This record gives sequence, structure tokens and C-alpha cells, in this order.
Amino acid sequence: MPKIRKAIFPVAGLGTRFLPATKAMPKEMLPVVDRPLIQHVVDEARGAGIEHFIFVTGRNKSVIEDHFDRQFELEVTLNERGKKNDLALLSHDLPEAGSASFTRQQSPLGLGHAVWCARELVGREPFALLLPDVLVQHDPGCLAQMIAAAGALEERANIVAVEEVPKDRVHMYGVVGVGPSKGKAFGITQMVEKPKAADAPSNLAITGRYILQPEIFDVLEKQSTGAGGEIQLTDAMLALAKSQPFYGLKFEGRSFDCGSKIGFLAANMSYALERDDLSAAMREEMQRLMGGK
Ligand code: G1P
Repeated sequence: MPKIRKAIFPVAGLGTRFLPATKAMPKEMLPVVDRPLIQHVVDEARGAGIEHFIFVTGRNKSVIEDHFDRQFELEVTLNERGKKNDLALLSHDLPEAGSASFTRQQSPLGLGHAVWCARELVGREPFALLLPDVLVQHDPGCLAQMIAAAGALEERANIVAVEEVPKDRVHMYGVVGVGPSKGKAFGITQMVEKPKAADAPSNLAITGRYILQPEIFDVLEKQSTGAGGEIQLTDAMLALAKSQPFYGLKFEGRSFDCGSKIGFLAANMSYALERDDLSAAMREEMQRLMGGK
């Protein structure tokens, strides 16, 4: 497979599950410890060798664009105060000039439509898609694992990250049917968006990371609405699977659904526990809260 250079980040969602926190602030800017959700996901993409970051934004999302730009006044003040570490952190996180692009999804028509909005920026090459609601805590990151697995597959393969979920939660995800294994991946025989437990082809849910071929844009252009009255990426993938191979990869690492309050809170605890500067104090606080001390 050719090198995956570009990644799409759909960040147009309203974030109603986090109101009122998300009334004036995009949900993608909610912090997990001290980095916004979107920064964690961009870090994962960078770690996988992505060179161009494409954000599909919406109204009220301009602070995401500001976040990936320089903050001149802040830099001057930090410099005057000799805060070298903070300055180094900001410059490390800054995407290279010209490597971030922003386009708007003008109407909330669904994930499939959001991806289609990026077609001109991606062009005709395979690309990665990362949903910022999902964090995967692992080194190497989930996308890096997928790109490594892609090396063993044919040129025009599509890959989705999957993980097991309890049967009573399959209705919240896209769910795949499992075919024969190939290297670390397996062939996908079926894909259904938000199935009832009885109709689900397995308990393997799509986990918000994809490597897709550009032909998905041609399918999305004509895709009619599916589950929830939205243009669903999963439906377009199922249509593309008639002419191109699709694989699933059970990645290593723990995933957090940061679109839910519990997933978001758990991510904060887990990422704090992994930090050298916070781990011991975090453990103490958690023990105290649990009544241990
Ligand atoms: C989207 C996808 C779904 C996938 C999920 C992962 O759903 O449509 O296939 O399983 O992300 O988080 P959403 O969570 O946007 O409803």
C-alpha cells in the first residue's frame, strides 16, 4: 500500500452530551489531563507518520483552528518569563506550516457526509480517518498498528480498527462480520451501522480509526441516508466492499469512548495514571475517593 500521508478528523459534531460545557466550546477541546481531545488524536496520527491533517469543522469550531496556530502574545509572555519548557511544548505540538487544512461541513448530515466534505483536500490517494471521540491508549498507537498491518495487505485494501463490545452495546456502533484471517487482520464479510443485538453479525465494533481508499468518495457522493436519517460511512463502506477488500484489525490498547461522560472521565483517570508527574498523587486521590484511606 502507498504511504498514508493524509488524515481526516471530523470535528463538526454538536457535542450535546456534554452541555453546558460544550455550549460555547467545541467538545474536541475538552481536556484529557492537559491536552485537548483533538490534540491526543492528532498526536496519534503524527506518531503514525501522517503529514497532512484535515479537519472537517462546523460553526462555533474556530478555536480548533486557533489551537493549531501560533499564539503570539502567549509566546512573547512565556519568553519574557523564561518559561522555556512551556515554550518548547507549544512549538513541539504546532503542526508544520501548511500541513493543517480546514473545511466546513455546512449541515449536520452524518459522518459519511463529513468525510465526503474532505474529498478535494484528500485527492485520489488512500487516507486515514480518526474520530476524535475515541482515544486509544497504547504505544504504538492504533493508527500506527493499522498502517503496519496494511503493509501485509494488497494495494487497494481498506482497514477498520475493531474491538469486542458486550452484546447489549452493539446498537451504539458499526459492527462487522468476521471472515478469514490474513496476517494480523481478518477479512470483513458484513458491516451494519447500529444494529439491534439480534441482527448484529458479531460483537466486533468499529472503533473510530479507518484506512480508506479514495473510491469511498465516489460512493459517498451517491449515498442515501441510513441509520438515524444520516449519511452513514458504514453503509458506503459496505457498498465499496463489493469491489475492494475490507479488513478488520483487533488493535492492542485500551479504548475510551470520550463521547460519553463515563468514557471521558475514565480516560482522564487512566491518562493521569500514566503520567510520571501525576501518577502517585492521582492514585492517592482515587483511593481517598473510594474510601480506602
Ligand atoms: C461512529 C460510526 C460507528 C463507529 C463509532 C465509533 O458512530 O458511525 O460505525 O462504531 O463512530 O465510535 P457515532 O459514535 O458517531 O454514532
